[in-house]
Amino acid sequence: MTKKILINEVGLRDGLQIQPKFVPTNGKLDIANALIASGVKSFEAASFVSPKAVPQMSDASDLFKSLPKDNGVYYSALLFNEKGYERAVEAGAKAIAIALASTEKMNLANIRMTLDEAIINLGKIIKKAKNDGLDARAYISTALGCPYEGNVSVDRVIKLADKMFELGADKIAIADTIGSGGPDLVENVVGEAAKKFGPENLIVHFHDTRALGLTNAWVALKIGVTEFDTSLGGLGGCPFAPGAAGNLATEDLAFMLNDAGYDTGIDINKVREAVIIAERYTGQKLGGRISQWWASQERKKAASVASAAE
Ligand code: COA
Ligand code: ZN
Repeated sequence: MTKKILINEVGLRDGLQIQPKFVPTNGKLDIANALIASGVKSFEAASFVSPKAVPQMSDASDLFKSLPKDNGVYYSALLFNEKGYERAVEAGAKAIAIALASTEKMNLANIRMTLDEAIINLGKIIKKAKNDGLDARAYISTALGCPYEGNVSVDRVIKLADKMFELGADKIAIADTIGSGGPDLVENVVGEAAKKFGPENLIVHFHDTRALGLTNAWVALKIGVTEFDTSLGGLGGCPFAPGAAGNLATEDLAFMLNDAGYDTGIDINKVREAVIIAERYTGQKLGGRISQWWASQERKKAASVASAAE
């Protein structure tokens, strides 16, 4: 039987949050709709954070209210505090994501809390979400390296993940926020987490800063992970994590997995249509590593159809 893999599209949040040009809500919706048409069934759709900290997310409530519903698509909302939680619930969010950075300095830079304060505060939000019947996922960010503190021990990541499960998280995402991890480290961290918590309870989130996104994803896949965060066209990066480049591109991961016989449900031609829409709204040239080769194949196909018709 073909193994199903879930791709959770984070382009509307992680992808756009660092983009200087504001993408209006209807632009974000156009991107979401094009991705849904490509087969995407899961999104981290926005973050409910301070609009001063991340202006691109200032329309999170409007976007959440406008996203197409009752179509089997899962939308989560990233947030860090009570205010974000209340706003997300008011906008109709049924699933939340919180992000606990693995180090003191990253928590301070991102949310102005120490690690201990962040554990208490984010733990309270998870509990509240579970009491309210919402799904809650917890990201352990900078899990494979911190821009301020460098290496992070496997033990530390496992302890933080354990804490988040204890506080009620449904799933844990191991996030390589700046793309500093390589296959060995993924094997150690994700391997250890899978042993302790079960690979079905894990999500992996890779950035392609050093061209290791696909390699890392393959290692996690072989450990048994079945849910992956990606961003269309490789958009992405965190404004508070220096050095963070784009996320692993949705089309790259979908291509590798489809090619290897996994069932992602994703049509790459249609993801490319979504990328073109995102290029229009962001004013950036986008595209995963597969883009050029894929486009050349499409050109060849079109040329052979045209010559057959002559
Ligand atoms: N939604 C909207 N506004 C919010 C908010 C939220 N979730 N949380 C705080 N604010 C507003 C407050 O109302 C306040 O506004 P004011 O200056 O007009 O009074 C301002 O933000 C500061 O609030 P405060 O509670 O003092 O927070 P802070 O300054 O300590 O900032 C965070 C903490 C978490 C709100 C802020 O750092 C943040 O939103 N960071 C974004 C983190 C992020 O998205 N990182 C990238 C993804 S990993
Ligand atoms: Zn990220």
